[in-house]
Amino acid sequence: MPDRILTNQDFERMVETSDEWIVTRSGIRERHISDDQTATSDLAALAAQRALKEASISPEELDVIIVGTASPDMIFPSTACLVQNLIGARNAAPMDLQAACSGFIYALTVGKAFINSGQYRTILIIGAETLTKITDYKDRSTCVLFGDAAGAAVLRPAEKDEGVLETYLGGNGSLWHLLHMPAGGSRKPASHETVDQRLHFIKMSGNEVFKAAVKAMGDAALKVLQKAGMNGQDVDLMIPHQANTRIIKATARRIHLPMDKVYVNIDRYGNTSAASIPLALDEARRKGKVKPGDVLLLVAFGGGFTWGSALIRW
Ligand code: UT7
Repeated sequence: MPDRILTNQDFERMVETSDEWIVTRSGIRERHISDDQTATSDLAALAAQRALKEASISPEELDVIIVGTASPDMIFPSTACLVQNLIGARNAAPMDLQAACSGFIYALTVGKAFINSGQYRTILIIGAETLTKITDYKDRSTCVLFGDAAGAAVLRPAEKDEGVLETYLGGNGSLWHLLHMPAGGSRKPASHETVDQRLHFIKMSGNEVFKAAVKAMGDAALKVLQKAGMNGQDVDLMIPHQANTRIIKATARRIHLPMDKVYVNIDRYGNTSAASIPLALDEARRKGKVKPGDVLLLVAFGGGFTWGSALIRW
């Protein structure tokens, strides 16, 4: 994640809000913000290089790069093309996958399917966002929520009953309008009017999204456990998308998982969308909270709406 931090106290000076409101409603205390020179591909490439180093894999060995992002550098080319160039992965097919905050789980599912089909062997998946570039710092209902980050993982074939055991994906496009960026695409191309009307920023009906997220995250957690013939007691650590502590707690309750088996770092990073799960997974791993053989439950919800979950035996 970028170095620069915005705290809740900083926001108290920018909009009509309070540390108390932000912490009790969302769980966020601070978030990292990229500078003017940093775009999504820059964070993505850094995460990718670190993941490749840890996996002892050279960029030339990559067959596919999948970037889950809702804040690409440009409409086209894909951010994955820019990452391919930045890391020198000249043999890889680059592609973006747009599933908003569920982007990492979607990328994981597609990567797993490519490997299972035998078509590709080495796949780099990345969740990367600079949502703060499309955040309206005059809108208190959204500006306190988002942060920038990227996380990456290298996928390769695993033994049976190891690695990614099951995944589940879902969505409901009829509710797209509850969380979106209205302008800058083919529906409302950029114009003086769209800029004046502040339409190049995230618009979110927070409370309605909240209710949908609580239901969909719980459903997704149950669905993937069911597919694997498991239940909450089989889970050693849940790594949820970090949008709101209250949503995370409700999801844990649905599968009867105590909070000491849930990894939460939203207080320090805010909502980093597609980056939040790889960021949390990496942090949990570095802190020794993920041991070989552990069953991890990843679960996410995002704009679209999209949602998804994955079970991993580490
Ligand atoms: O990443 C995946 C998708 N995103 C999410 O899952 C986010 C889901 N939504 C949420 O996490 C929550 O809805 C929020 C944290 C965004 C908001 O919490 P809430 O409990 O749903 O609050 P609310 O939107 O119902 O607003 C309650 C009140 C309103 O005032 P009135 O109408 O009750 O007088 C808002 O105007 O809080 C007000 N408010 C604020 N007050 C102080 C909204 N933003 C702020 C703020 N500071 N920053």
